[in-house]
Amino acid sequence: MNNKELVLVLDFGGQYNQLIVRRIRDLGVYSELVPYSTTIEKIKELNPKGLVLTGGPNSVFASDSLVMDSRILDLGIPTLGICYGAQLIAYLKGGEVLSAETREYGKSEMSVKPSPLFKHIPEKSVVWMSHTDYVSKAPEGYEVIGFTDSCPVAAYGNDKAKIYGVQFHPEVVHTECGNTVLRNFLYEVAGLKGDWSMRNFIGDMVGKIRDKVGDKKVLLAMSGGVDSAVAATLMHRAIGKNLQCVLVDHGLMRKYEVEDIVRVFRDGIGMNLDVIDAKERFLSRLNGITEPEQKRKIIGEEFIRTFEDYSKKSGKVDFLAQGTIYPDVIESGFGKAALIKSHHNVGGLPSVIAFDEIIEPLRDLFKDEVRKVGFELGLDKSIVMRQPFPGPGLAVRVIGEITEEKLELLRDADFIFREEIRKAGLDTEIWQYFAVVTDLKSVGVMGDMRTYDYTVALRAVTSVDAMSADWARIPYELLAKVSNRIINEVNGVNRVVYDITSKPPSTIEWE
Ligand code: XMP
Repeated sequence: MNNKELVLVLDFGGQYNQLIVRRIRDLGVYSELVPYSTTIEKIKELNPKGLVLTGGPNSVFASDSLVMDSRILDLGIPTLGICYGAQLIAYLKGGEVLSAETREYGKSEMSVKPSPLFKHIPEKSVVWMSHTDYVSKAPEGYEVIGFTDSCPVAAYGNDKAKIYGVQFHPEVVHTECGNTVLRNFLYEVAGLKGDWSMRNFIGDMVGKIRDKVGDKKVLLAMSGGVDSAVAATLMHRAIGKNLQCVLVDHGLMRKYEVEDIVRVFRDGIGMNLDVIDAKERFLSRLNGITEPEQKRKIIGEEFIRTFEDYSKKSGKVDFLAQGTIYPDVIESGFGKAALIKSHHNVGGLPSVIAFDEIIEPLRDLFKDEVRKVGFELGLDKSIVMRQPFPGPGLAVRVIGEITEEKLELLRDADFIFREEIRKAGLDTEIWQYFAVVTDLKSVGVMGDMRTYDYTVALRAVTSVDAMSADWARIPYELLAKVSNRIINEVNGVNRVVYDITSKPPSTIEWE
């Protein structure tokens, strides 16, 4: 993005780093996370109006400590160091950092002195601490502006250089004045105006897409998920009929899903949208397969093949558009998370489609920003607030072998569960809620007849990022209603259970 106002967050490996970027953006300033090792030349080129140095697991004393180019602190850019960032600035500027015997973790009461960083902040307030090392003496020319019982320099700064360090974490909600500190840094210290809004983003991006694409053609693979839906709508706003969307119906979609997508995007918005009916090829390859990773692998491969066939027929395209979002970009750049499940999306497409260039109009946005863009573009809540749905679809919610019978009863049971959750007004509170058809049959009695039918499990979780999750405390009456409806309305099910495990140790999906 070439926004006028950019705040760069230098990543020293702390767990809250993405959160800092989000908070800054929520305050109306565009921000990006970059590695701590970003060179001074690169920083000059990006021309940020503010720098934030994050926390991190390191100690400035460690031989492998993460150190930035100290000359960056002399560029005259307003800078805020948080936790490790504060210790690092103190260390580089000749202050004193010591290692405490015990780690300070949790809430502390901080007293502050007047400072632009602490405008509108009460003399005493609660802050969140998590550190072992601490700044014991601020560098020369820097004033101590905050302290707690156990932390003599909880905050320090130099108003002239506009450089500040805070030992506490302003980005976490437990720090009462946290948002005000960040706001003060942006608006009082750095003197920014705040030009980041989703409306500006859309105007800007539509212009850029038009400039880039001209009257050439763009292909976009739609999954029905929020990201590809918003990307498609944004692209359509920019280039209309020059956008061709494609949806692969792999036969593993939820009830009415494909129909809904067609109704909204093709009939409603007027997009060019091809639906490839690939049910047969997916289901026949999945026939007899029970192992979850194998299912995922087959579906991933078949997706790519389906597009390959499509591409052979339609010929080369000028641009391929994708709904990549900022966390995907950060994770592929910095993260090395262990492989728990081989998540699948359309990432392999570029290898089989002949195209000149990729366009990723949402690659700078967080999920909540993507949602705001969706609303700005006039998309309905049912699309914008849609719960996450795995790429392999219902294949990972049919335990064991995938059969038409199991798929059919899963669709019906899942539809009932989703409908009741929505009617109870819980659809935005609960992160994900769906049904799973187990591979277990058990004995029941209906009327006077013995039955031997499938067990359906209901799964509903609360979460903020799907990395961890808790089972949702759904009212018993609601569970009773859903269970009754499923047993009465769905043939082939005689038992309904509710999953009460959190993640970890379970995962959200069952496979
Ligand atoms: P788990 O089951 O690993 O799921 O706790 C975490 C989140 O990821 C979704 N999920 C997937 N999404 N492709 C996707 O695009 C996949 O293969 C996939 N598997 C799981 C899951 O629904 C949850 O939101």
